[in-house]
Amino acid sequence: MIYNVIENDMEILNEIDKILEEAGSLLNSAKSRNELDDRFRAVSGKKGRLSAILHNIGSYSAEEKKIIGSKSNEVKNKIEAVYKNKKNEIEAIERQNFLDKYKIDLTIPGDYMERPHKHPITAVLEEAVDFFSSMGFEIAEGPEIETTYYNFDALNIPANHPARDVWDTFYLLNGLVPRTHTSSVQVRTLEKKSPPFRIIAPGRCYRYEAVDATHLFMFNQMEGLFVDKNVRLTDLKGILEETVKHLLGAKKTRFRPAFYPFVEPGLDLDIECVFCGGRGCGVCKNTGWIEVIPCGMVHPNVFKYAGIDPLKFRGFAFGMGFDRIVMLKYNINDLRLLYQGELDILNQF
Ligand code: PHE
Repeated sequence: MIYNVIENDMEILNEIDKILEEAGSLLNSAKSRNELDDRFRAVSGKKGRLSAILHNIGSYSAEEKKIIGSKSNEVKNKIEAVYKNKKNEIEAIERQNFLDKYKIDLTIPGDYMERPHKHPITAVLEEAVDFFSSMGFEIAEGPEIETTYYNFDALNIPANHPARDVWDTFYLLNGLVPRTHTSSVQVRTLEKKSPPFRIIAPGRCYRYEAVDATHLFMFNQMEGLFVDKNVRLTDLKGILEETVKHLLGAKKTRFRPAFYPFVEPGLDLDIECVFCGGRGCGVCKNTGWIEVIPCGMVHPNVFKYAGIDPLKFRGFAFGMGFDRIVMLKYNINDLRLLYQGELDILNQF
C-alpha cells in the first residue's frame, strides 16, 4: 500500500525533499542573524512552500495525507534544526568578532596611577589654618604688592627710620613694594574690621636676600592678630605655645626679647634646635635654638594709625616664618629643597 502511494506521489515527496535541500542551502549561506531569520521565516512561514503543500493536502486520500503530513513534519523539523544550528554558528562568530574587536586582556597589569598629594608647605599651612580656625581666628588677605604706607609707615616704621633697612626691601619703579612681611595685613584689617577680632593672614613675602639654606628671596609667612579689650601677653604666650605644640609636637620653647617697631614689648619665640637637640650646630648657628615666631603686643601707634583708640583696645600679633615651620616639622635642613620641584624629595611627604 505504502509503496503504491509513494510511487503515485513520488513527485510531491520529491518536492518536499527539494524544499528541504533548498531551504538547507539557503539557511546555511546566510551571513547574519537578520538574514538567517528572514530566510527562515520565508521558508517555514505561512507563505512558504511547505505550508502551501499542507494547505492543498485536501485533494489526497487519507493514506496519502498521512504520508505527506508526516514527511512534511519531518522536513519542517529538519529545517528548524538547520536554522538552530546555523543560528548558533552565526552567534558564535558574532561573539568572537566582538571579542576580537574589543579585546581585553585581563592579565595585563594596569597602568600605575600616581596618587596626588599636597606640597608639604600647603599641607602644613592647611593644618595651621584649621588649628587657628578652631580658636576663632578668621582668614584675612592683603595684596602681595603693597604701598610703603601699609608695609612700613602704618606699622610705625617711618621713612628714613633705620628700621626699614632690616626688611631688605625690593623697591619697584612705581614706588610700590613686594610686601616684605604679612604685617601689612594687620593694618588693612585694623582699618576694615572693628574689634574685637582674631585673624590670621597667610601669604607670600619678598626680600632682597642672598639665597642660602635658611633664606630665600620669596617665602611664606603667617601673620596673626588678636585684638580685644583685655588681651594680655599671657594670651600670646599660651596661644603660641599651643601652636608650636600642635604643629611641631612637644618642643622646648623660650621667649626672648626682640625689637619690631610695631609691637611693644616685642618677642621671639624660639624652639630647641631639632637638628642638634640643643647642643649647637650649623643650622642653629651654634645657639641650640631656632627662632620660629616673632611676636609682641600691638604698639599703640599702630592702633592710632588705623584709627583705633589704644586705651580701649589691646592686642597681640605674630608673624610665623612658615617655610621654617615646615622645615622643622620634617627635619629638612635646606629651605631650597621645598621650592625646587624635585619630585624625589616632594614625594616623600
Ligand atoms: N613682620 C615681622 C617680620 O617679618 C614679624 C612680626 C610679626 C613680628 C608680628 C612681630 C609681630 O620680621
